Amino acid sequence: MIEPDGPARTFDSRVGLKARGTWGIKFLEKRGDIMARLTGKVAVVTGGNSGIGLATARRFREEGAKVAISGRDQKTLDEAVKTIGGDVIAVKGDVSKLADLDKLYKAVAEKFGKIDVLFANAGIAKFAPAADSTEALFDETFDVNVKGVFFTIQKALPLLNDGASVIINSSVVNETGFAGASVYSATKAAVRSFARTLTTELIDRGIRVNVVSPGPISTPIFGRTGLSPEAIDEFARGAVAKVPMKRFGKPEEIASTVLFLATPESSYITGVDINVDGGMGQV
Ligand SMILES: NC(=O)c1ccc[n+]([C@@H]2O[C@H](COP(=O)([O-])OP(=O)(O)OC[C@H]3O[C@@H](n4cnc5c(N)ncnc54)[C@H](OP(=O)(O)O)[C@@H]3O)[C@@H](O)[C@H]2O)c1
Repeated sequence: MIEPDGPARTFDSRVGLKARGTWGIKFLEKRGDIMARLTGKVAVVTGGNSGIGLATARRFREEGAKVAISGRDQKTLDEAVKTIGGDVIAVKGDVSKLADLDKLYKAVAEKFGKIDVLFANAGIAKFAPAADSTEALFDETFDVNVKGVFFTIQKALPLLNDGASVIINSSVVNETGFAGASVYSATKAAVRSFARTLTTELIDRGIRVNVVSPGPISTPIFGRTGLSPEAIDEFARGAVAKVPMKRFGKPEEIASTVLFLATPESSYITGVDINVDGGMGQV
């Protein structure tokens, strides 16, 4: 069984699962002899200052892309720019605010011109049983995860090159039931739906639209759920129990799949939803 780090046991709500293995890093190091696949391309990653977005922005950059990231927190944006290296810009903004998206794309156009790869990744996770879910939780989650993704893509359309690749970050819960996640799961089902319709609308421009659906991935998102550390631990144990591989995934494991969807290696793939979930959504 592929289980580089063994079953997940320790969880730090600020950083996600504590790193215990080097499998992902070794994998990246071994790639030195492979030709960069995004040389000369421009990639935009919303939520590129943390977790999956940051890992993907780094991977895009390693593959030769010029990268623009966005997020709301200036401190982590600045740190991400240093981590990612040259040919990267960071634009502070909220994806649920259309004026902020205009600001992002104005900066991208001025610095890099057109866009070849768009990873609509920014999102939040707030969990509560349906009976306790407030209007505020509902509105905030739909604002960021659904409205944010829709207008992130819509406002990019004039800048997208023909043949560009759009990847949306959904979740394994877009087609499963996970207690306490009714609102979050519905937002992820909505963006999976966007990919189907946008595929048909953008195919004439050769633009492919695909979805990546992670299972539980070790990122800071769990520390932002509003749950107590004990509740997060319980959630983590419950999630891992549902994963055949019996571990959390790493952000780099999502980045690899997003990279595949971003390049011509996936040239005959559009409209799909690829689960990267240790088998969670399959059994
Ligand atoms: N981790 C998992 O287990 C998992 C599983 C399935 C799907 N996902 C999805 O993966 C995506 C990334 O999550 P993650 O796990 O990497 O979590 P994360 O580390 O918390 O990252 C979330 C990112 O989204 C940004 N963001 C949140 N709200 C935003 C807003 N209104 N405007 C702009 N940026 C915003 C955050 O930036 P700021 O901090 O600057 O706001 C941050 O960069 C999300 O869509 C999430 O739903 C995660």
